[in-house]
Amino acid sequence: MNKKGVIIQGSSRSNGNTNKIVTFIKEKTGFDIIDLKTKHITYFDYDFNNSDDDFIPLMNDIVNKYDTIIFATPVYWYSMSGILKIFFDRITDCLKVEKEIGRKLRGKTMGMISCGSDSELKKGFEMPFIESANYLGMHYLGNMHTWIENEIISEPLKKELNSFIEKNVKMAYKQVKQ
Ligand SMILES: Cc1cc2nc3c(=O)[nH]c(=O)nc-3n(C[C@H](O)[C@H](O)[C@H](O)COP(=O)(O)O)c2cc1C
Repeated sequence: MNKKGVIIQGSSRSNGNTNKIVTFIKEKTGFDIIDLKTKHITYFDYDFNNSDDDFIPLMNDIVNKYDTIIFATPVYWYSMSGILKIFFDRITDCLKVEKEIGRKLRGKTMGMISCGSDSELKKGFEMPFIESANYLGMHYLGNMHTWIENEIISEPLKKELNSFIEKNVKMAYKQVKQ
């Protein structure tokens, strides 16, 4: 059965610039949104003493409900946000302890949307997403970089986003469906 897609929003504010982009994508795709800011997820612990926080139930939900996972992150200091990096670090829980969840990631599709103040995304930003997808056995559908000027998504950027959604996101979604 066709599963829905989800956008995992990793911003330090729920209704900031990244959310403007995320809302635009949701409107075009019907994907659900998970706002990591509203979850209690602590940084990786080698002793797994944090296994009672929100991470495992959230991840369990994600692997069971969705086949396409788009990470949306602001650019903070040339990197993904801390909130999203903590989420990625915690995927290690799914390789070491909750292995069934980890196995379910295999074959799913990952994409990434970055949102900065600069129109240029520095070289290397995308690498952790590409390599993590590889490592986890996920397909990588690509990245689109966005930026917000005067609190709005500019018309040219809307066009670019539409084309990314049609060519990358919806194509990947259809392939999963078949
Ligand atoms: C801690 C911090 C670091 C930032 N570093 C960068 C950066 O390296 N490059 C950039 O283009 N913008 C940078 N910005 C600007 C944000 O990426 C930009 O305002 C983004 O749209 C914010 O999205 P948000 O409202 O979801 O947090 C930074 C902002 C913050 C708060």
